[in-house]
Amino acid sequence: MKALVLSGGRGTRLRPITHTSAKQLVPVANKPILFYAIEAIRDAGITDIGIVVGDTQAEIRRACGNGDDWGCKITYLPQEAPLGLAHAVKISEEFMAGEPFVMYLGDNLVKDGIAGLVDEYRAGGYNAQILLAHVPRPKDFGVAELDAATGRVIRLEEKPAEPKTDLALVGVYMFDRNIFEAVNAIKPSARGELEITDAIQYLIDHDYNVHSHVIDGWWKDTGRLEDMLEANRIVLDGLLRKIDGEVDAASSIHGKVRIGKGSRVVNSVIRGPAIIGDNCVIENAYVGPFTSIYYNCVVRGSEIEHSIVLEVVR
Ligand code: G1P
Repeated sequence: MKALVLSGGRGTRLRPITHTSAKQLVPVANKPILFYAIEAIRDAGITDIGIVVGDTQAEIRRACGNGDDWGCKITYLPQEAPLGLAHAVKISEEFMAGEPFVMYLGDNLVKDGIAGLVDEYRAGGYNAQILLAHVPRPKDFGVAELDAATGRVIRLEEKPAEPKTDLALVGVYMFDRNIFEAVNAIKPSARGELEITDAIQYLIDHDYNVHSHVIDGWWKDTGRLEDMLEANRIVLDGLLRKIDGEVDAASSIHGKVRIGKGSRVVNSVIRGPAIIGDNCVIENAYVGPFTSIYYNCVVRGSEIEHSIVLEVVR
């Protein structure tokens, strides 16, 4: 089995922070979101990964390299324009070489990983497996309707104005090679994109076996700033305390706090959950709960909480 990670797109909903960086590289608890996807795939026993890249490909390539850091092999698949998720599948046909694959949207975070879900897909012999989650604002997502009697998916609708259910499509999908028939048959949607939702509907309509699994752990599509901060909050909450930097006698550190190597905390209070990367200076400052401060940052004479601080891009 292979994997396809989608890391194109312009991240317009995250502006201004994505003017300088790919949205998939924004750190959650000091780790780029995209790395959580690669780790989840690797932990499911898949090491042959294609990453679909667009305008921000130089940054993505620099961050992920050839995959050695994860014991994986990464192949980059350039997409000439963001023409939709199903278009990204289309351009990966040669790379997949007939194998089944997991498609993972690079801005999605699935807390419990995907190993169990990949096993379920493999064991079930399905043509496709989709993950669903109950959400408060279904109209922001692809929405699934299930048959009341059998529980099978009968309809999928991309960002419907009037959702029929609160079951959103999670950005992790499993497909066998029949998905290529579907992505080649569908037409662009009203927003001009080839929608993966329409491709899966094609599989359903043509009697392919599409299995769905409602996940109960948390999942986040970090497409918007508030979701990014919430993901950061949730990941930080699971943090273990580890202080590698220096903390002077005038400072105090409370709760789950990580401080990276070469960092200095001077006359400051840090109240966790919080993470501070390597080579930072925190001086005469208060760092409050749910804060991530990236590498090489200086926080001086300030109070900050519930925030993600990025490194300075020169
Ligand atoms: C995409 C899919 C949508 C899915 C969502 C999950 O939307 O089109 O069906 O629910 O990912 O993250 P996008 O976030 O690209 O608009």
